Amino acid sequence: MSYEKAKEAAEFIKSRYSKPVKVAVVLGSGLGAFADYATDSVRIPYDEIPHFARSTVEGHAGQMVLGEIEGIPVAIQQGRFHYYEGYEMEQVVFPIRTFGLLGIKSLILTNAAGSIRTSNRPGTLLLIRDHINLIGVNPLRGANDERFGPRFPDMTEVYCKQYQKIASEEAEKLMKERVEKGLEKEFRRILRRGVYCALPGPTYETPAEVRMLRLLGADAVGMSTVPEAITAKHMGMKILGISCLANMAAGIDEGFINHQEVMEMGREIAEIFNELLKRIIVKIGELEGFQNFAEKTV
Ligand code: HPA
Repeated sequence: MSYEKAKEAAEFIKSRYSKPVKVAVVLGSGLGAFADYATDSVRIPYDEIPHFARSTVEGHAGQMVLGEIEGIPVAIQQGRFHYYEGYEMEQVVFPIRTFGLLGIKSLILTNAAGSIRTSNRPGTLLLIRDHINLIGVNPLRGANDERFGPRFPDMTEVYCKQYQKIASEEAEKLMKERVEKGLEKEFRRILRRGVYCALPGPTYETPAEVRMLRLLGADAVGMSTVPEAITAKHMGMKILGISCLANMAAGIDEGFINHQEVMEMGREIAEIFNELLKRIIVKIGELEGFQNFAEKTV
């Protein structure tokens, strides 16, 4: 049933935006402003798209933005569905299924996360090289629909190595340029690599849980992304994941964690994050041969 529903959603989106979309981007808490970079854009609130849920969290706009980034047609999910909001996993990952049936093979997942490593201060970005799923459920549980993908998907390389290389190179170039332009005092590595661990939320972690996560090998902790990554991998997509480290995870620094702080950090880093994301999409476009797709229609 989910396949037919996703097909319906994809057909609806195509009826509103006829260009062949090649890259999808999911924007995390506080990172929604990237959607404003899309030109010639069409905005579709989730409640207009067949079978889409609605996002309820502050900082998540709840719309699909279709437009171009430097001539590459993209679909941007401005606001995602989290398991903690009470949705079924099927609803959480439904947009990813829809992207897949739109023919999208490249997916960029972003989120806000807590940093577990003291050397990665808030305001750094984390290139996700792998994940740990501690949500306690898997979106692929239940009957498998072979039209989406295999029963037992391999998870050895969820996050595409080629895309990771592009992201690292672009981050380094961008920061060097910012130093040259006087926007940074000195060069700093804005994009670190690490392991993202997803918990169900909605509580932030206890300090004891954070110590446990560190022992498990996690560098960042959050409440999203992993279900979407699993679903995208199931469909054979190439995935890039980037966390915006919004705060130190509980118990590392003095003080407490709150959602406002997470949102503010997203906004603070937005300028660098948005520019980096744009450059990464251009490079993915070059790698995959997506340039000039905007002139075509489906
Ligand atoms: N923990 C879990 N999720 C988060 C955090 C955190 O510290 N910060 C932003 N999202």
